Amino acid sequence: MALSRRRFLSGSLSALLGLWLVPASVRARAAKPRAARHALPFRAVPMATGDAIVLPPGYRHQVLLPWGEPLCGRMPAFRGDGGGSAADQAEQIGMHHDGMHFFPEPEGNGFSSERGVLAINHEYIDPRLLHPLGWRPGGSPRPIEEVLKEMHAHGVSIAAVARDGAGRWRLRADRRNRRIHAATPVRFSGPAAGHPLLITPYAPDGRRGRGTMHNCAHGVTPWGTYLTCEENWATYFARLDGRQDPAAQRYGIPSGRDEEGWVSALGWHRVAPEEDPEYLARRFDVTPRGKEAVEDFRNEAHHFGWVVEIDPEDPDAVPIKRTALGRFAHEGASFQPAEEGQAVVCYLGDDHPFEHLYKFISRQAFRPGRTRGEILDEGTLFVARFQSDGTGLWLPLRHGEHGLDAAQGFRDQGEVLIHARLAASLLGATPLDRPEWVAIHPKTREVFVALTNNVERRESGPACPRAPNAFGHILRLRETEPLPKDDRDPRARRFRWTLFLLAGPEGEGAIGEAALDGDGAFACPDGLVFDRHGRLWIHTDMPSRAGERSPYARFGNNQLLVADPESGAIRRFLVGPPGCELSGACFTPDGRTLFVNVQHPGEPTTEALLAEGRLRSHWPDGHPARPRSAVVVVEREDGKPLLG
Ligand code: FEO
Ligand code: CA
Ligand code: CA
Repeated sequence: MALSRRRFLSGSLSALLGLWLVPASVRARAAKPRAARHALPFRAVPMATGDAIVLPPGYRHQVLLPWGEPLCGRMPAFRGDGGGSAADQAEQIGMHHDGMHFFPEPEGNGFSSERGVLAINHEYIDPRLLHPLGWRPGGSPRPIEEVLKEMHAHGVSIAAVARDGAGRWRLRADRRNRRIHAATPVRFSGPAAGHPLLITPYAPDGRRGRGTMHNCAHGVTPWGTYLTCEENWATYFARLDGRQDPAAQRYGIPSGRDEEGWVSALGWHRVAPEEDPEYLARRFDVTPRGKEAVEDFRNEAHHFGWVVEIDPEDPDAVPIKRTALGRFAHEGASFQPAEEGQAVVCYLGDDHPFEHLYKFISRQAFRPGRTRGEILDEGTLFVARFQSDGTGLWLPLRHGEHGLDAAQGFRDQGEVLIHARLAASLLGATPLDRPEWVAIHPKTREVFVALTNNVERRESGPACPRAPNAFGHILRLRETEPLPKDDRDPRARRFRWTLFLLAGPEGEGAIGEAALDGDGAFACPDGLVFDRHGRLWIHTDMPSRAGERSPYARFGNNQLLVADPESGAIRRFLVGPPGCELSGACFTPDGRTLFVNVQHPGEPTTEALLAEGRLRSHWPDGHPARPRSAVVVVEREDGKPLLG
């Protein structure tokens, strides 16, 4: 059995784990004999480097909804040479699939496992693959057609899917099929809506905006809507006078002068004024020009970095940016199971080195059938402080408390939320190693947090024992009282934490007190999701620019693993093509079908490789096609539930 292959830790690793895991109760728990059986009844796949999906024996897969697939019938057809228009892209699946959820259709007294709606985030794009002749920074101005196509390839896809008579999953014609992208009208709600820092020439009331982008991971609300989380949006903006204020600096808004090289990642603001009378592209220039100036979009960057609610059932519903959840590089939004009469509780990661873990607790209680998204507009955002004795505190980001006041630069609650990172630091939140996904154990309600890596760390600290941390780790939190009545309930303020998993090579990584073996060695945990049986699915996202000599080369391509927290077993279930990351695992209610995203296969693409036809990946269409992000549907060949 897997346990017999496990080696006990070396003294040095024990010391490393023990350094921050001292509570006696924790040690006592860890010392108990492991369950003899585990819930991972499949043969682990080896690490791999091929341009293919690798699955255990007895499993099969199909590719669904690749980038460019038309969402509304056969038109506008995808053109593999990048030749489609911006208008085409607005009706096709976006690029770089990330967080995802399967919303099953109601059926009888339950839900279908054959029909439903997939909501898919598109985290970013590769402009080299998007345009026919590739793409290279430089040159001026940028054609508006290109910039619009790039905007349209970002965002979210809502796609109705079903299994056909032959057992294949297909897109189906449906009124709900829809693209939301970086130019789609949105509105703001919650404490920051209408705030002076959200006022732009487009939004004189500070309550509406255009677009969502860098949609990373996601959340599913207890009332059945989709949350999409805006992560690495900051680099798309440019302040062109070379100046910078501390808040913009903390959020990573680039500042400089275009004549010295492109300031922003894609140069969206560099379109000719006559091509962009609505400032759809030029709004990404956030240089102050004078408050009354029509081109003064200094506040446009405040329109991004939010959690956005989308109703997958209503194609006309305007996406809503829920500002009470704070503004940062949002990774995902994960709810505790909601219970009638209790507050709703949602965990949020800010994926940047030394940023923080947050949770939101609603003011109002959850009422099944009556609660809607407005419950997210009122409540308290807390940030985590981890202490070296295995305990932790949730610190409230409330204006007027603990120094969050005008003297410290926070005029009101809106400003606390817009500059949540600054507020969190002021409160003494713990800097972490890039908090990615959070997953809630369906039975124990424990909170698992992926800290993917942080090579910038120079000193270890509570919850981050390695410096530098190349391989990442996963924390396990237990709320002292998981279900408060509302955001003022003092029970919601304390938690306990342990190190659940230290990622790394065979014999160096560890789960609990057992070293990882060859079946479970990996690096850079990112996406975390529990299945209904309490097994934790772990997606990896090792940097794709790593190269042969990097510490990640030994792990092969990125992977999807399954861990059983009960027994401490972990096994590799799927390996993706080169250059991709895996993301978005979700399941049909019957547990027979897994949907998982392959994001950016072949990354990095360079101009030279594209010109020479030497791409790292041609997945999924095969040589010589350009690679495409897509959903992979995994099932067992015998039709039984995935893991029995
Ligand atoms: Fe979008 Fe932090 O991964
Ligand atoms: Ca991620
Ligand atoms: Ca990542």
